[in-house]
Amino acid sequence: MIDDFEPFRERVIQQLEIILNHTDAPSPLIEAMRYGVLSGGKRIRPILVYLSCKALGADLSLADKPACAIELIHAYSLIHDDLPAMDNDDLRRGEPACHIKFGEATAILAGDALQTLAFEILANDHQLTAETRLSLITELAAATGASGMVAGQIIDLGAENRFIDAVGLENMHRRKTGDLISTCLIFGAILSAADTEVKDAMLQFGQALGLAFQIKDDILDVTGDERAIGKPVGSDVGNEKTTFVSVYGLDEATCKLDQLLGEATAALVPLGSNAAPLNELARFIITRDH
Ligand code: IPE
Ligand code: IPE
Ligand code: MG
Ligand code: MG
Ligand code: MG
Repeated sequence: MIDDFEPFRERVIQQLEIILNHTDAPSPLIEAMRYGVLSGGKRIRPILVYLSCKALGADLSLADKPACAIELIHAYSLIHDDLPAMDNDDLRRGEPACHIKFGEATAILAGDALQTLAFEILANDHQLTAETRLSLITELAAATGASGMVAGQIIDLGAENRFIDAVGLENMHRRKTGDLISTCLIFGAILSAADTEVKDAMLQFGQALGLAFQIKDDILDVTGDERAIGKPVGSDVGNEKTTFVSVYGLDEATCKLDQLLGEATAALVPLGSNAAPLNELARFIITRDH
């Protein structure tokens, strides 16, 4: 990870610790929740929330709980994504997946609890006006629910061992991964009370970045090193997943990444030099090895 972003990574981990310490979850639920949230991870999404607030001039302390809410949803999605009924992966972030460590039932419930905790901390974030809280909750629910991330996940499962055309593939990736990533940028716009033009620019950036993020994830499933990515290499091939690599091949998938980086960068031109850290993170996302 880029050194400049390390303070944000540390900040969100500290905030997540505080949130989890305040829950009254019994054992072994709390251990499974902590494991799913605190055992590693790049923290790209919370960093995006902080960077977008910084780019738009919002007070960074306003971003603390919203950044955590997004990371809690992300952690829940990974716990469920690894389950035997979904991708059936045993390794996550270099450690046994949550269901391997705690059993399936506890892992399912830990995911459920993390999801509701995300909305609870937004609803209770009294630094923000009731109107801002409602906007954040509405955006997050739309991006992660039946028309967003969960839609993407069911399309993904339905596309195993089946042809899916280019439009369907992009739709699946945009929903299962892109929508949550776009929400990070939208959160920045909401927290800084940005005007419609800036909000649109952030959304364009987020959409290009979100699609690029999943394409790179698909590429790493083929070309990655298990020790670096911390999850099984070849999981998609094993599950006969339809991915950008299975449909287009590695070269074309890589070209698409460059094209999307160009789109993302172009979207933020109106922000001038304030966009530099976001562009740097976008470049990291398409060049990363983990
Ligand atoms: C992996 O996300 C799941 C996808 C949406 C592709 P990340 O690569 O951000 O996972 P962590 O949080 O860094 O482990
Ligand atoms: C995960 O996509 C998307 C969500 C968790 C919503 P993948 O199944 O490709 O993610 P990894 O590769 O297991 O991290
Ligand atoms: Mg999956
Ligand atoms: Mg998976
Ligand atoms: Mg993957």
